[in-house]
Amino acid sequence: MAATSGGHGNLGCYTGPGQKHAIRGDFIWVNQLFRDLVDGLDDCVKEPEIFLDVPFVPTEEAVVEAMLNLADVGRHDVLYDLGAGDGRFLVAAAMRRKARGVGIELDPARVADAMEYAAHSRVEHLVDFIEEDFFKADYHDATVVVLYLLDSINVKLRPRLLKTLQAGARIVSHAFDMGDWRPDERVSVAGSTLYKWIVPARVAGTWYWESLDGASYRAELRQKYQDVSAQVWREETPVCVKSADLQGGQLDLHLDGTPSGAARHFTLHFETGELVSAEEHAADGSC
Ligand SMILES: C[S@@+](CC[C@H](N)C(=O)[O-])C[C@H]1O[C@@H](n2cnc3c(N)ncnc32)[C@H](O)[C@@H]1O
Repeated sequence: MAATSGGHGNLGCYTGPGQKHAIRGDFIWVNQLFRDLVDGLDDCVKEPEIFLDVPFVPTEEAVVEAMLNLADVGRHDVLYDLGAGDGRFLVAAAMRRKARGVGIELDPARVADAMEYAAHSRVEHLVDFIEEDFFKADYHDATVVVLYLLDSINVKLRPRLLKTLQAGARIVSHAFDMGDWRPDERVSVAGSTLYKWIVPARVAGTWYWESLDGASYRAELRQKYQDVSAQVWREETPVCVKSADLQGGQLDLHLDGTPSGAARHFTLHFETGELVSAEEHAADGSC
């Protein structure tokens, strides 16, 4: 990180000309991890003009790499780092995975640092840093969203993340959970817990399709995030549902056999809240 300026590794209390920061008031009560770091923050706050929801605390390199692995970042990905700090995530993703990235960062000093770091690392053609509030930013084209914020901020961002992102987009968070949205994966690295969520398609409702043998199927689906409960009928006869697993836009339904038909495995594909196709696989077993 030698190319950057502005005190990497320090709390984001920038004292350069004309820059005055404050952290929103409830922050210090929310998380033990940052508590020590915000001690003495009052000394930094002079006529606040920029209200940061979280101070600058950089993610260490081993954790950056682990999060890129957790999200399985590749050259076709578009990463958004909400609260991009000095840009280390996006620069690492560009250098090591050839992925494009957009950093959303409210602190202009960090934006300048990140741009300087990207230029020094010769990846400025792959990354961009925007001085903006992450609660207002547009990240609809993200395939991966990176967070190192707070539980409470993640929960506040959650409705917009779920509404804005495409089904199948991955969200990875350093150290902080997201309320009652169960992570799809959780790993421990270098003393930190890392979380991954896969944005689920909206699948709740009643859906109809046909099996390869021409029978009509109806499913009534209820959904909370990626957790789906299903009731299914074949030719209006109830069928026992062995499992209903939603990952992104794909719902795998394992169905038991009925007197009039064998056990079935369907993959239902959803796009923008609609069932677009049903694929049938060989299946066996019973409830
Ligand atoms: C804990 S740091 C994480 C930096 C970087 N993502 C990393 O992991 O190394 C959080 C960053 O969020 C920025 N930030 C805080 N509130 C913000 C807001 N409302 N909109 C955009 N950025 C914000 C801070 O300036 C800080 O750089």
